[in-house]
Amino acid sequence: MSAYILGIESSCDDTSAAVFKDDTILSNKIANQDVHMEYGGVVPELASRAHQQNIIPVVDKALKDAGVTASQIDAVAFTRGPGLMGSLLVGTSFAKGFALANDIPLIEVNHLHAHVLAHFIKEPDEATEHPEFPFICLLVSGGNSQIVLVKSYTEMEVVGQTIDDAAGEAFDKCAKVMGLPYPGGPLIDKLAKEGNPEAFIFSKPRIKNYDYSFSGLKTSFLYFLRDQLKVNPDFIEENKKDLCASLQKTIIDILLNKLELAAKDLKINQIALAGGVSANSGLRNGLEMLAKRKKWKTFIPKFAYTTDNAAMIAVTGYFKYEEKQFVDHSVAPFSRVVF
Ligand code: KG4
Repeated sequence: MSAYILGIESSCDDTSAAVFKDDTILSNKIANQDVHMEYGGVVPELASRAHQQNIIPVVDKALKDAGVTASQIDAVAFTRGPGLMGSLLVGTSFAKGFALANDIPLIEVNHLHAHVLAHFIKEPDEATEHPEFPFICLLVSGGNSQIVLVKSYTEMEVVGQTIDDAAGEAFDKCAKVMGLPYPGGPLIDKLAKEGNPEAFIFSKPRIKNYDYSFSGLKTSFLYFLRDQLKVNPDFIEENKKDLCASLQKTIIDILLNKLELAAKDLKINQIALAGGVSANSGLRNGLEMLAKRKKWKTFIPKFAYTTDNAAMIAVTGYFKYEEKQFVDHSVAPFSRVVF
């Protein structure tokens, strides 16, 4: 029998609720928080307060858009972590209250698994192609950069990950150095389209295995600009597009080189992208070009499912519902990565 699943996401600064009928999306609502703009990054305390204000209206809207009432929901899935503790507590507490009030099971979801399983979201009346197990997923977001070997809906192995900053952090921090507003990733992407990616060379890390490092690049970018500004105070303004294009190319090269190595060693030719940075047009194009050469089959999620959203939580919840993987109400959120 079909099941209606409510998904709740509140790990960072987006409050989101989604309603699914099995693995098919009926609605996905997101309330963004503009309050962080003026601080140049997410302020955890402000994020939890905004979640508290947003959560009930967002759930209400998601139910209405899906044409489903609260009493029809069969299970509620929520992001348990990783993320900001105060933010996670709002979604977790809401989910517990909803489950209790409607006498339905509670399902915890790992935010990172959900990013990967976003590839299995089905649209009504639309044929969508999904990766086949096992596949490799390059998960790149503001908090994570990982190469994940996905063996099944519930079995995933991190084969490589960043030892310091995430790719999204590298975009955002370098953008900040150039005076761009937060989050800088999308702006760098936009400006890079008109710049020369070969204009400047930035250092690339030499890290073992399939791991990543982005803190060296951030430092070399900072020192390079500091030196150039001594000579020409308008250096950034005059070279912004080329700086963005060159920086973006460096980050993409770093990401794709390790992905290529992992795919070769693990003998896998189904490659998926996930996470906020997978919205980057240069990364999408770079992956497609590499895939052509390597004869990979690639899967790039719809834009709406790359950044934080409850649709990916609900679909993951559905797969756990099928396996009756429920949790009791003593469950608490976790802030750190536990893959
Ligand atoms: O997955 P996500 O929504 O959430 C967190 O991990 O918090 O990812 C957000 C990250 C930010 O660092 C943002 O700058 C980056 O994704 N991002 C991009 C683009 N769109 C979002 N980075 C580069 N190019 C983009 N088009």
